Amino acid sequence: MGAILPATQALASAMAETAVNGRSGSSIVEIGAGSGKVTEALLRHSQGRTRIRAIEANAHLAERLRLKLPSVDVVSGRFEEATEKIFAGMHQAIVVSSVPLFSLQDDSRSAYFESLAAAIKRGWVSRYVQYTYWPVLPWAAAKTLCGTGPRLIALNLPPAWIWSQDH
Ligand SMILES: C[S@@+](CC[C@H](N)C(=O)[O-])C[C@H]1O[C@@H](n2cnc3c(N)ncnc32)[C@H](O)[C@@H]1O
Repeated sequence: MGAILPATQALASAMAETAVNGRSGSSIVEIGAGSGKVTEALLRHSQGRTRIRAIEANAHLAERLRLKLPSVDVVSGRFEEATEKIFAGMHQAIVVSSVPLFSLQDDSRSAYFESLAAAIKRGWVSRYVQYTYWPVLPWAAAKTLCGTGPRLIALNLPPAWIWSQDH
């Protein structure tokens, strides 16, 4: 499933800023919400005016998040197994991901990228935002999905990079 390292405040805020920049009214889908640090930053930056749906593969974390942030629609499960449910009723959503791409098994990462590409093709995604702890994405599919030229968040420990691509 990958590392469960919560995002720092600096990283969570930078993710939220990147996500909502110029798109303040769009619905948000968050993948791999974990402890909810990025979710909270998204709520702050969208000033509670945006619909946020979060999916988390770990059922225990999903339940905790549901209790902690009742205004967020929390789905328990893996993104690639619940794509239709996640985007139901949403159009051109901003997708914000903390999924640990480098920690996933090859087949899980491929399945994740395939589901994401299918969602983009169906017009469900207007922007994709992802962080990593490495400035290069060594997978062919990643360039189109995540973009190039990531932004370094040097204040984060460890340093993190934010990838953003409009679709
Ligand atoms: C780095 S951790 C959590 C980061 C989160 N931003 C935080 O601050 O707590 C990544 C999370 O992604 C979840 N995850 C991994 N693969 C997933 C998938 N395919 N679908 C949904 N969640 C996934 C993990 O269970 C984990 O909680």
